[in-house]
Amino acid sequence: MVLNHIDVVKRLKRAGLLDCLAKSSVNKRNAFSIIISVLNVGLGKAVEIGTYKGITAGVMASVFDKVYTFDIVRRPITDSIWKALEVEKKIKYFVFGNKVDLEGKEFNDWIDKVNREGRVREFIADKLKDIDFDFAYIDAKHDKNVRSDFKLVENCKYVLFDDYFYPGVKKFMNEIGAFQIDRFGLYENKKATKKFME
Ligand SMILES: C[S@@+](CC[C@H](N)C(=O)[O-])C[C@H]1O[C@@H](n2cnc3c(N)ncnc32)[C@H](O)[C@@H]1O
Repeated sequence: MVLNHIDVVKRLKRAGLLDCLAKSSVNKRNAFSIIISVLNVGLGKAVEIGTYKGITAGVMASVFDKVYTFDIVRRPITDSIWKALEVEKKIKYFVFGNKVDLEGKEFNDWIDKVNREGRVREFIADKLKDIDFDFAYIDAKHDKNVRSDFKLVENCKYVLFDDYFYPGVKKFMNEIGAFQIDRFGLYENKKATKKFME
């Protein structure tokens, strides 16, 4: 059963974690749950780039058999969130570095530096080479970095992007022929879905 916005709110509230919903793509609306539940027809494994506190990974895990989620930094709260959403066994969490001690500007500068240097993508590419996945959700830096994030997952069947309206994201969406659904952009890899539907 897909966790919709109401389920997520209820479960996080019960666990005293409702404030974690801020800044998640699941916040205030059901579009994320609706899109991934419709896409899930016959799909098994999903990848996420940009875990943050893990709420979208949790919703994805209510739909897909397994979710592999990647971030630059570990956020320990993810464990409690995945437990509250009852999906902890279906999620594999990969973290590139461990700068939880940094905050504010210093922290954001470090994230930008890691993205510029590209080492995080080498890390993700190395893990993904052994995973056969069907769907990817890209929700990391909402700028020109989406191009290199996409490169990591472009061979799967569907790629969903957060924040279609950010200029860097929208420009890239148009270039690859992704279309807008609510605040998201959806790319279908026709080569992969054709084979899948035969
Ligand atoms: C908007 S938040 C993700 C929110 C989450 N998907 C949700 O909706 O619940 C973006 C996250 O991407 C991470 N990030 C930034 N650049 C990244 C990269 N190149 N690879 C993986 N994660 C990245 C940040 O640390 C941050 O946690």
